[in-house]
Amino acid sequence: MAKGKITISVIKADVGGFVGHSSSHPEILETAKDRLVNAREKGSIIDFHVLRCGDDLELIMTHDKGCDNKTIHELAWNTFTAATEVAKELKLYGAGQDLLKDAFTGTVKGMGPGVAEMEFIERKSEPVIVFMADKTSSGAWNLPLYKIFGDPFNTAGLIIDPSMIEGFCFNVLDVKEGKSITLSCPEETYYLLALIGATSRYMVASVYRKKDKEITASASTERLSQIAGKYVGKDDPVMIVRCQSGLPAVGEVLEAFSFPHLVSGWMRGSHHGPLMPVPFYEANAVRFDGPPRVIAAGFQVSDGRLIGPHDMFDDPSFDLTRRKAGEIAEYMRRHGPFEPHRLPLEDMEYTTLPNVLEKLKDRFEKK
Ligand code: F6R
Ligand code: MG
Ligand code: MG
Repeated sequence: MAKGKITISVIKADVGGFVGHSSSHPEILETAKDRLVNAREKGSIIDFHVLRCGDDLELIMTHDKGCDNKTIHELAWNTFTAATEVAKELKLYGAGQDLLKDAFTGTVKGMGPGVAEMEFIERKSEPVIVFMADKTSSGAWNLPLYKIFGDPFNTAGLIIDPSMIEGFCFNVLDVKEGKSITLSCPEETYYLLALIGATSRYMVASVYRKKDKEITASASTERLSQIAGKYVGKDDPVMIVRCQSGLPAVGEVLEAFSFPHLVSGWMRGSHHGPLMPVPFYEANAVRFDGPPRVIAAGFQVSDGRLIGPHDMFDDPSFDLTRRKAGEIAEYMRRHGPFEPHRLPLEDMEYTTLPNVLEKLKDRFEKK
């Protein structure tokens, strides 16, 4: 670890839902907290906060060990397995759903949980927002990330703040090829949009400020379906964004979520629906297992301590967005099993749909 650096690790998994896939049981959260209190006392982490979004258990941790650290990943893995035991005992739904391997092998990456991490030198004041979504996948962050770091109609600072005027660099992952590319904006904006508009294949993994390479956003980019080889739910992504003092302001970051854009996920991970920003207590996927939800936990980081969380979407200024999301959900639902509410066939490859189509295979006649 470089001197003076801290790391924020947000590691999440669905280890069992209550009721069905809609929400989490308080005992799951308590079990996770017990584990992390222990780890904090032993000094392996500096601080933590446990939250849930829908059926996903979210571990927000700070430490001084850097990204991809074995101790931290193992702590998360053991916390998830302990919570899975509780889920099994309560017969919660889909106990251990996202733990796709039997034993820990050094990193949780590729084992089912989602991970967003970043390491940085803490500034004089360090406002950070952790976004957590349920019933959608990592591509859901593409549009808000573009707005935050690439669109002056969203982020006034891109034209008003001299630290931002040079722009930001987007690291984009091609999940199909397993390759990534960094695009420098504003000059490569059109290339960026050419890629990240295709949200099922290209996902923004991180963003940094161009003038000094300061890391400002980091997103989870796991694709559970492709890891598992069969459908085990959507990734339900997380993302960390640092704000203020030459980075987008808290209000500019949140503004990107005032438009409830369509994302893939929702019922059976097979539908398009609006991403609805909600307070923590409304992060329950109930209508048609959705619509997809996002929560935002705000913190001030102080010597690695997580001062917070502040529930950023618990505010009437987002009521209109929620109402609009409700209207869009209603409109999309009226399409029933038809596209574009239902995802196109290629995005259904990893669901259970191929098993259904298989049953008809021999009944097709040549025309
Ligand atoms: C989507 C999700 C749910 C389930 C649905 C069916 O990510 O988790 O919409 O796909 O409730 O679940 P099973 O097949 O477990 O009955
Ligand atoms: Mg679930
Ligand atoms: Mg979930």
